[in-house]
Amino acid sequence: MSLKDVLHWRYAPKRMNGQKVSEEGIESILKAAQYAPTSMGLQPFTLYLIEQRDLLEQIRPVAYNQPQITEASHLLLFAGYTKLSGHHIDAYLENIMATRGASAESLEPFRKSMMRFAQSSSDEQIRIWAANQAYIALGFAIAEAALLGVDATPMEGFDIPGLDQLLGLHQHGLSSIALLAIGYRDEENDFLAYEKKVRRPLEELVVRFPQQ
Ligand SMILES: Cc1cc2nc3c(=O)[nH]c(=O)nc-3n(C[C@H](O)[C@H](O)[C@H](O)COP(=O)(O)O)c2cc1C
Repeated sequence: MSLKDVLHWRYAPKRMNGQKVSEEGIESILKAAQYAPTSMGLQPFTLYLIEQRDLLEQIRPVAYNQPQITEASHLLLFAGYTKLSGHHIDAYLENIMATRGASAESLEPFRKSMMRFAQSSSDEQIRIWAANQAYIALGFAIAEAALLGVDATPMEGFDIPGLDQLLGLHQHGLSSIALLAIGYRDEENDFLAYEKKVRRPLEELVVRFPQQ
């Protein structure tokens, strides 16, 4: 099936049945997030893959008791950088040098422009920028899950400071952005399982220039 077709099949389940997703499936979903494009290629986020049942039980109340948290096979947390430091930029440049055999000298203009961006941005601007990048990766992960026939519910319905504290994210220079509950829909108990998709029509969503 094409991506377009599986996007009709997928939806954001409110209830999941607890069935496990294979390790290969999880790895494919993680790789889709890994290969998503990001601003300057910096990937300013970390993914936390959580499978441990007692930790999921602790997260559920922080996420307004949404059942997907504990009914999912895995929970994927997208956590963004709270600051962009010279250390992040250097680590990225070292990766480019090791991967492409580029010299430090040839990358100097790129290093300078990234440093300028880091130094001229407030912490709040970095937080929003990092979240924007993470959402692209979230979308890729959702699409890959759908291609595999795996369900995935993107979730922003949780208490960010509460989750950050529970997982000790600030110590790592991170703050939570979004969750992705990965698993299989519970067709019997999910009121949305057989509902039609609700979307604005293309004619309304898209403005074509020149207008006809
Ligand atoms: C960023 C984001 C946050 C969302 N947060 C939640 C959430 O906390 N709980 C939930 O059940 N669904 C959540 N959703 C799912 C949306 O409600 C759902 O994607 C939307 O209604 C469209 O329906 P569909 O994805 O089933 O086609 C979220 C979706 C996105 C993209």
